[in-house]
Amino acid sequence: MSAGFQGPMRLYSQTIARQKGLSRFGLDKMRESRVDRNVHSLASKRRKTNLIERMISSNSDFIPSEPPPSFAGTPVFKDIEFSRGTSKEAQQRNADPKAVFVVTGASRGIGCQYVKALLERTNGRIVACCRLPSTNDLKDYLDSNPHYQDRVTLTQLDLRNQDTIDKLANVIETDFEGRLDGLFNVAGLLGDGGSTTPGPERTASNLDRSWITTSFEVNTIGPMMMCQALMPYLKVPVRSDRPKSIVVNMSARVGSISDNGLGGWYSYRASKAALNQFTRTFALEVTKRNQTWVIALHPGTTNTGLSKPFQKNVKPGKLFPVEFTVNQLLNLVDTMEEHHSGGFYDWAGKALPF
Ligand SMILES: NC(=O)c1ccc[n+]([C@@H]2O[C@H](COP(=O)([O-])OP(=O)(O)OC[C@H]3O[C@@H](n4cnc5c(N)ncnc54)[C@H](OP(=O)(O)O)[C@@H]3O)[C@@H](O)[C@H]2O)c1
Repeated sequence: MSAGFQGPMRLYSQTIARQKGLSRFGLDKMRESRVDRNVHSLASKRRKTNLIERMISSNSDFIPSEPPPSFAGTPVFKDIEFSRGTSKEAQQRNADPKAVFVVTGASRGIGCQYVKALLERTNGRIVACCRLPSTNDLKDYLDSNPHYQDRVTLTQLDLRNQDTIDKLANVIETDFEGRLDGLFNVAGLLGDGGSTTPGPERTASNLDRSWITTSFEVNTIGPMMMCQALMPYLKVPVRSDRPKSIVVNMSARVGSISDNGLGGWYSYRASKAALNQFTRTFALEVTKRNQTWVIALHPGTTNTGLSKPFQKNVKPGKLFPVEFTVNQLLNLVDTMEEHHSGGFYDWAGKALPF
């Protein structure tokens, strides 16, 4: 590599060397180190690609351009390793036609995709909760896929209305033999940044009491009350052959307090931080006693109505199609073990700091 430069190039290099106050040897070294840097960056690109390949499930067409960014803070849980494959618990749960799954926010976005993916991945029955069950993306999907209709019960649920949560619990009790194998708390609220909602608030001067209340009702209190109402059905009876049950709380990385280096998005961050705290606290209560495993997940920036107003600066390889996101997250759920219960994880299975 240090053969030096020939002819006019050599003259040019000497001129540059003089301008930079470097000997020719020094310039060659500089050039070498640039080549080294290129080789290095190629190697690091290859390492990154390998890393991404290890982080994604094989049956996905989409490949993210980057692994998840590094974070500030120290996670207290261990990563979930995809390489372990589907656990025995998950295999049993997915194969059982009597298994029951509840999904909130099922009308569109990630929640709707959870329902579609559970229909394919499991043999179980799905209670799909929507504010308006009669008109939404899931209803359209079921209308054009009638063979799935007998496995899905579309139920009205508004997380701001406790009566609808209590009614849902009655439906599980009466129509589903009081059995629940998986609760997916997916519904969430961010706001459009000032066009029609005060949130997400950039500065404290934008704080609005009613918006903070709504955000907490949908992002935190709703999932908490769902867990309370459905806890008896999630509990795996002693000496039963039912597999462990699961609760998946859809959180967001911006809910991490130690990783918050940007500020802004007050209500959303605070409501998801509180959801993370609830996830850990609830897991401590129900993991061993009820055989219910609980996790909080960050999906990565996913192409849905929620992220739409903020997609302008997101590069295409970093904006996940909803199918990719949900496939990743369900693979995590199917791989998790008891010691992951209570943790907060990103789409690649990395434990995030609280
Ligand atoms: N997309 C992302 O990039 C991203 C990133 C990080 C975290 N997340 C989290 O992932 C979850 C799903 O997000 P998404 O992108 O799928 O959002 P989305 O497309 O905006 O869908 C939000 C869902 O929440 C429902 N919902 C809103 N208010 C409700 C209420 N009061 N009661 C019951 N349901 C209500 C909506 O129902 P309607 O159709 O009736 O409005 C809709 O089904 C959220 O918890 C979000 O915080 C998403």
